[in-house]
Amino acid sequence: MDVEGTPLNDFNTSREDGNSDSLQQSGSTPLKILRTYSRWSPMEEGVTLAWNDLSVYANMKEKSSKSYKRIITEVTGAIRSGSLVALMGASGSGKSTLMAALAYRSAGGVIVEGDILINGRPVGDYMRHISGFMHQEDIFIGSLTVWEHMSIMARMKLDRRINDRERRFKICDILKQLGLSQCMNTRIGLNGDSKVLSGGEKKRLAFATELLTDPPLLFCDEPTTGLDAYSAQKIVTMMNMMSAAGKTILCTIHQPSSEIFAMFSQVILLADGKIAFMGSTANAVQFFDK
Ligand SMILES: Nc1ncnc2c1ncn2[C@@H]1O[C@H](COP(=O)(O)OP(=O)(O)OP(=O)(O)O)[C@@H](O)[C@H]1O
Ligand SMILES: [Mg+2]
Repeated sequence: MDVEGTPLNDFNTSREDGNSDSLQQSGSTPLKILRTYSRWSPMEEGVTLAWNDLSVYANMKEKSSKSYKRIITEVTGAIRSGSLVALMGASGSGKSTLMAALAYRSAGGVIVEGDILINGRPVGDYMRHISGFMHQEDIFIGSLTVWEHMSIMARMKLDRRINDRERRFKICDILKQLGLSQCMNTRIGLNGDSKVLSGGEKKRLAFATELLTDPPLLFCDEPTTGLDAYSAQKIVTMMNMMSAAGKTILCTIHQPSSEIFAMFSQVILLADGKIAFMGSTANAVQFFDK
């Protein structure tokens, strides 16, 4: 498969700038430079994600015999670098399952078959290092404040060489962008607690956590669910700006308003584990008008 002119077989042979297999020395002997994962930097190139014949099965563990339920059936597709893509479909159509499979974050007992490629190359577990994943359900320690949560996550996720001042600056900047500065010292709280973060603030905090490492590829599972129209628009506007700056963002979304829908560049519609439509948002409207 050839995605955006980056054939699979140039994986180990292209130069760091990706233009040629060999460097010409001052004489005429070509000098081969090998490229490895450690040199490969999709952060700079941008990320085009492609998948081919992808099926996902869940182990049903019925009594002693193992039986598998197919959730996603042989789907093929691609997302260009720098695009904001909406993954839509009815509840239970397989959006979260497909997204987790693409992000190499499937739960135990789930089997993924097929190819997943980044810029034309198979990635494997390296996907976890170059992508952020915002889960549908928020996972937080309720007793921490927003600042404590971000500080701990920053220590875990960021490079050790980043000093305290830079780390604090980064956290402040992200919290400011997401309108969370005024609740820095608020406890996150558990469901049912009073005087803690609202549902919308928790969603924004989950998004903020994923922005810490500034990944070139972001998976967001229902980032706007439970948000009011204003907050939903704000978060999608932010994603739109990030994609314009080169990030690739795949985002599941339910019932977006027309303004929010228009901010996406591409839409993938899932029905019963299969892709019913994939294309630009403008074409989607025409397609369903017919
Ligand atoms: N580990 C699993 N074991 C068994 N069935 C599963 C498993 N994971 C998902 N399913 C089933 O696969 C189907 C798709 O689930 P998925 O969570 O991907 O749907 P979704 O499109 O994200 O729905 P929603 O919009 O409600 O979040 C559902 O019928 C679900 O019950
Ligand atoms: Mg889901």
